Amino acid sequence: MSRKPIRKAVFPVAGLGTRFLPATKAIPKELLPIVDRPLIQYAVDEAREAGIEQMIFVTGRGKTALIENFDIAFELEATMAERGKDLSVLEPTRFTPGDLISVRQQVPMGLGHAIWCARAIVGDEPFAILLPDELMVGEPGCMAQMVEAYHEVGGNLISVLEVPHEEVSSYGVIDPGAANGALTEVKGLVEKPPVDQAPSNKIVSGRYILQPEVMRTLETQGKGAGGEIQLTDAMAKMIGSQPFHAVTFEGRRFDCGSKTGFVEATLALALERDDMGKEVRRIAERLLGR
Ligand code: G1P
Repeated sequence: MSRKPIRKAVFPVAGLGTRFLPATKAIPKELLPIVDRPLIQYAVDEAREAGIEQMIFVTGRGKTALIENFDIAFELEATMAERGKDLSVLEPTRFTPGDLISVRQQVPMGLGHAIWCARAIVGDEPFAILLPDELMVGEPGCMAQMVEAYHEVGGNLISVLEVPHEEVSSYGVIDPGAANGALTEVKGLVEKPPVDQAPSNKIVSGRYILQPEVMRTLETQGKGAGGEIQLTDAMAKMIGSQPFHAVTFEGRRFDCGSKTGFVEATLALALERDDMGKEVRRIAERLLGR
């Protein structure tokens, strides 16, 4: 069956990044680098790999540097070219004009509200959402795995992974139905439930493919967990009227919204790099006193 291709992705990047202060006082947290690549770059690369062309950033005050990151830096590039330096390192930051669009979320009112801010640009087609805090490493990438699943089952898809039961109250949690390979039917969704009320330990891990109707649902969505307009609540309302599946991501996930997750990602990716892996391993071993 042919389905509308997923051409657009929304990146909610308006968050204040308070957990990383003072580092994020003047720099958006999505520009913090894992080694030498900003978090947002990993997410954009993942979307591109999945065939997505148009990226929509939902930004806020003080987050303009995120847009600058994907612009042509004329002075930098001219100077580098003059000095005979290799410009290919900037290749992933290039955008065809018009393919990076930003809208502002004027007030932080939650993830659901942030997504709703992109409604006019998303229009009437299915779209992806990527939360750059969640760094997904896999081959193929998480969004590519989801797009493949989307071509099979259509409807709405979220990526999930299992966490220790005591951690579920920090996340959106699914009530799982029938499973078939990497796909699990979603029977219910609840945002940040108390541990003893969580329907499973399968959490929503920051990647979505949703039908445009979610925008209509968000329009009237009231406040949920934490007093915020929650995407999870709007999605929960769509269960039953549209197919809803979870994709268990085959790969690794680093929670870069937490400091220890950020350090873990930095170490893991540095250890794997051809240009520094061996040296980083020696350093780590020395620090650990081995
Ligand atoms: C958001 C979502 C939650 C999801 C999580 C993944 O929560 O609301 O459902 O599990 O991202 O990181 P937040 O981390 O913004 O509180």
